[in-house]
Amino acid sequence: MLDNIEFKDYKKKDDIHGTVLYPAVMVAPVQKKILGDIILKDNIVSIFDPFHGSGTALYEAFELSSDMHLVGCDINPLANLITRVKLQGVSKFIYSDINKIEEYINEPDYVYEYSFPNIEKWFRSDVIDSLALLRSAIMNINSDRNRLYFWYILSDVIRFNSNTRSSTYKLHIKEKNVIENMENNVINSFLSKAKKYADKFKHKSENFILYKNDIFNVIKKIRKNAFDISITSPPYGDNATTVPYGQFSMLSLYTIPEYDLELEGWELNNYSIIDNRSMGGSEKSVMLDKFELSLIKNYLSLISTSKHQKILRYFNDYFSFLKELCRVTKKYIVLTLGNRTVDRIEINLVSLTKKFMEKNNYKNIDSAMRIIPRKRTPKVTSNVRQKPVSSMNYEYILIYKKYV
Ligand SMILES: C[S@@+](CC[C@H](N)C(=O)[O-])C[C@H]1O[C@@H](n2cnc3c(N)ncnc32)[C@H](O)[C@@H]1O
Repeated sequence: MLDNIEFKDYKKKDDIHGTVLYPAVMVAPVQKKILGDIILKDNIVSIFDPFHGSGTALYEAFELSSDMHLVGCDINPLANLITRVKLQGVSKFIYSDINKIEEYINEPDYVYEYSFPNIEKWFRSDVIDSLALLRSAIMNINSDRNRLYFWYILSDVIRFNSNTRSSTYKLHIKEKNVIENMENNVINSFLSKAKKYADKFKHKSENFILYKNDIFNVIKKIRKNAFDISITSPPYGDNATTVPYGQFSMLSLYTIPEYDLELEGWELNNYSIIDNRSMGGSEKSVMLDKFELSLIKNYLSLISTSKHQKILRYFNDYFSFLKELCRVTKKYIVLTLGNRTVDRIEINLVSLTKKFMEKNNYKNIDSAMRIIPRKRTPKVTSNVRQKPVSSMNYEYILIYKKYV
């Protein structure tokens, strides 16, 4: 099944996944190939992605079989919006709604001012004016599907017109002279992207559920064997020090009106709250059992004690998540994983996962490795004792099958 997953010629910009930026996404043709092979062989009717991010796997499953029951979860409201738009598409009046936006921009009825903490740090004042105008024009659109599509497009435009560097997913201010010389492309870039991409969204899945929530609040309520396949890429470590999905999303989340976001109520409290509450981040009590502790014990002995709590917190979350995933999945679990380095010690998440899955009645039936061509997560992430530490450069795809 996984003999060739290089897909060297694949260009994200050619498909729907290239229409928006989200950190650490899965490679669409790899997921499609795996899902295609399994769906063709077995009678698969339902798919679950507990950390759906930008919805790569759910969308690819929909492409293979449009009536597939798709269920996803993500703690990040921007991930929820992006995936919802990919699955529900736009209405047939999308082009007339784009015209409406253009007309409103040329002759606005009213421009709603908007602000959020530190807005002047992240946007130049003329960019704030353009965003306020565009935001007001989008708020004027009646169709929910089209309005959400416009926020989706705006989330990409925001990133490229802000004062944050595009070389990293973290919010990291550009140099003063770069900010001063940037072109304000908000309106033109929005209109051209909205027109260019609309045709990629002319489908509609009638059979999906997306939970905007912490997976731990959701998965415990799901019945045993509810899904034929679970396919996902969980965070490889705590978000704050690996990939800050939340921080990446904040400028968009502060700009999109709250009524068009799925919010529990805490997400906009500050710039780091989503990452702090994500897997491995929150201060839950650690309750690893003897077997789980035996899997990480050797690593702990090699890593400085100041970092133990962080590792314990992550694995506490990771193992309890995996246990639940095994319970709610009937046939196959497909995981995309990376190994992680703490204190120059590589934690072999792949081998830990294999041992854990076997104990929970899942047999590894196939696996493959890919080099990740990373642009924004540096290969060297930090310095430990003045020496650079390498980040994850490989990803592993593991397919498991339930055997009882
Ligand atoms: C590796 S990304 C998934 C990317 C996705 N496979 C794609 O192709 O876009 C991991 C996702 O897990 C989400 N996440 C982290 N902790 C979570 C939690 N406790 N509950 C639900 N989602 C969480 C993050 O917001 C992020 O979107």
